[in-house]
Amino acid sequence: MKHVLVAIALTGCAIPALTFTGQSPAAASSHHGGRAWMNPRLRPEQRVALLLRRMTQDEKLSLVFGYFGTDFPFTKYKAPAEGRAGSAGYVPGVPRLGIPAQWQTDAGIGVATQGGAVKKRERTALPSNLGIAATWNVDLAYKGGAMIGAEARASGFNVMLAGGVNLAREPRNGRNFEYGGEDPLLAGTMVGAQIAGIQSNHIISTVKHYALNDQETDRNAGNSVIDPKAARLSDLLAFEIALEKGKPGSVMCSYNHVNGPFACENPWLLRDVLRRDWGFKGYVMSDWGAVHSTVASVAAGLDQESGFPFDKEPYLGDGLKKALADGTVTTAQLDRMVSRILYAMFRHGLFDHPVTTAPMDLSDAMLAADAAVSRVAAEQSIVLLKNDRRVLPLAGTAQRIVVIGGNADKGVIAGGGSSLVYPKGGNATPDIAPKTWPGPVMFYPSSPLEALRRQLPNAEISFIDGRDPVAAAAQARTADIAIVFATQWAGEGFDVPLSLKDDQDALIDAVATANPKTVVVLETGGPVLSPWAGKAAGILEAWYPGTAGGDAIANVLTGKVNPSGHLPVSFPNSLAELPRPEAPSKGDVHYSEGAAVGYKWYDRQNLEPAFVFGHGLSYTRFAYRNLRARIAKRQVTVTFTVQNQGAVGGMAVAQVYAAGDGWEAPRRLVAFQKVDLAPRQSRQVTLALDPRLLADFDAGMNCWRLRSGSFRLTLGDSSAASSAKATLALTPRAIVVPHGFCKRG
Ligand code: BGC
Repeated sequence: MKHVLVAIALTGCAIPALTFTGQSPAAASSHHGGRAWMNPRLRPEQRVALLLRRMTQDEKLSLVFGYFGTDFPFTKYKAPAEGRAGSAGYVPGVPRLGIPAQWQTDAGIGVATQGGAVKKRERTALPSNLGIAATWNVDLAYKGGAMIGAEARASGFNVMLAGGVNLAREPRNGRNFEYGGEDPLLAGTMVGAQIAGIQSNHIISTVKHYALNDQETDRNAGNSVIDPKAARLSDLLAFEIALEKGKPGSVMCSYNHVNGPFACENPWLLRDVLRRDWGFKGYVMSDWGAVHSTVASVAAGLDQESGFPFDKEPYLGDGLKKALADGTVTTAQLDRMVSRILYAMFRHGLFDHPVTTAPMDLSDAMLAADAAVSRVAAEQSIVLLKNDRRVLPLAGTAQRIVVIGGNADKGVIAGGGSSLVYPKGGNATPDIAPKTWPGPVMFYPSSPLEALRRQLPNAEISFIDGRDPVAAAAQARTADIAIVFATQWAGEGFDVPLSLKDDQDALIDAVATANPKTVVVLETGGPVLSPWAGKAAGILEAWYPGTAGGDAIANVLTGKVNPSGHLPVSFPNSLAELPRPEAPSKGDVHYSEGAAVGYKWYDRQNLEPAFVFGHGLSYTRFAYRNLRARIAKRQVTVTFTVQNQGAVGGMAVAQVYAAGDGWEAPRRLVAFQKVDLAPRQSRQVTLALDPRLLADFDAGMNCWRLRSGSFRLTLGDSSAASSAKATLALTPRAIVVPHGFCKRG
């Protein structure tokens, strides 16, 4: 059958014919020293067309090939002097035509420095991206992005390699802390907001790692095998939403294979889904060392090779030059690649707001203000998982407190790998191995113990490192309350066990047995097993809390801040519950759970995890009522009220889930809102539902499809809660499902 492609949404990335608004090209040229493309009043497409025709082939080639920004003594590689020392990447500009270089820095938590760099930039670290997702606060995600983007600009960078949105499909993935959790709506929305915040500084952000790079084991050679329909409903939907909300200038393709081809030469991912179906107009850059070919990569839609010499050959360097000479790649293809790069550079202000060379050190005032942004984000990211007999907050109740383990006397842990931000004041634990890639194991010098002592000057607070569980238990027995800190180090290039290492489970068990008033504070990359959960009175998940993490944790423990984080990932009881209980494997990884990721899997299997997706307690109580759904202007909205029934202010996270027939799982998160409420205050909230979340993806037709039927909606403060219910009857024509690129028979 012959298929005709019909665009339903505005798609396509062709550069339109030149039309000038009010100014002739000649006039524009004379105003801009003969460089008409420098006129900010022209549309990016127009500027690209004007500039492209003035570029030589070598100039075009220089834009599609990037270098690692840091010396690599092992391979005798010396980074270009024009790059920023110790950075991730550098793509030369074309000074003759006023095209700026691209100075690239990692990542989503802040301005990182490569481990091999002699001098480290001391910058502000946000909580991990998973922590940011746990805030469920879209404005906060934007503000955090704006803060780290401002530090990137102030450091001389105009491309930030942020925007990690791979779903936490594999809870042991060592990079889950760089991503937005297990749900496509939450992850896409939060990461999209962060990207928009970064780009508000007139710099480009990526979204990465496209796609299905959901484990680190064998990441350079593994093949993620997934039914395309399931991918569209899960991981790819997270990318789609992040692209819409954040409008990143660039997409970074990942290391792994996806259903066969490598992600960076994958026509389905790059050409069909990203450009045709989603209408992405920016450029695709490779991950560092993710390119394996010239002709196939270009044909699939790769625009820029990053971080030479990470790849085996300069595929888009000399390789591309040869391919142009022998006609296996055409000039038209090269022009398309360069156009997409230039489009993003114009669109995001790289020409009009150039960055300058910048000092290694930022001012103390800037770092102090930025630490406050990070602290607020950390406070809202911390999830109170359990609070029996109101063991928390501490304020006013405890006299003798023992703090145990987790280097809580020194600082808070961070994740390893390319995203690592070096803090002002240096590593608080310089002696922990590994000290080199993907290390060092970093603790930011923000000690929870010291912060607690500052906040509770009348309490007697002792510390014991926890290496000897018997000694720790003995000390706990004599205290009014015991607070055990447990850490998990995760990072790029390796996956992690779900059990806490170094006998920390035994330590917690011993302490909680000795003192029923035991509070456990977890600083982990993602979910962990908690065999001691029944014994501990209180449990806080603080993730990797960033630059000011010690203060944030103390603020929540003492009640200065009311906890409002909710889980962006499910916490299992055991490995046996997972879709793939065995450790992440090499080669083909069959994602047979399809789109039933995280809570959707647990619901489908009728399993109850240790802590459900969306869960999070508060020091106050909220009531969720009067859920109503309506259709107006061919859109579904839901309205409900949330009330703070307690005596302290707090933030509720209202979550709406839908159930439909024939879905991958019993329910999907379809809307959420964080609501700040004073004591007794109540607020009405109205939210629009994304129609894709009520629809199904028809892979045969390559289209979102809404079936007639009745949808059951629930409202509550977690995926398992159902404080209010509503039903919604829909026919396909009742609402608009705007996104798609359907085939017609
Ligand atoms: C990582 C990317 C990072 C790049 C540059 C790679 O190892 O996967 O996330 O942006 O390095 O440092």
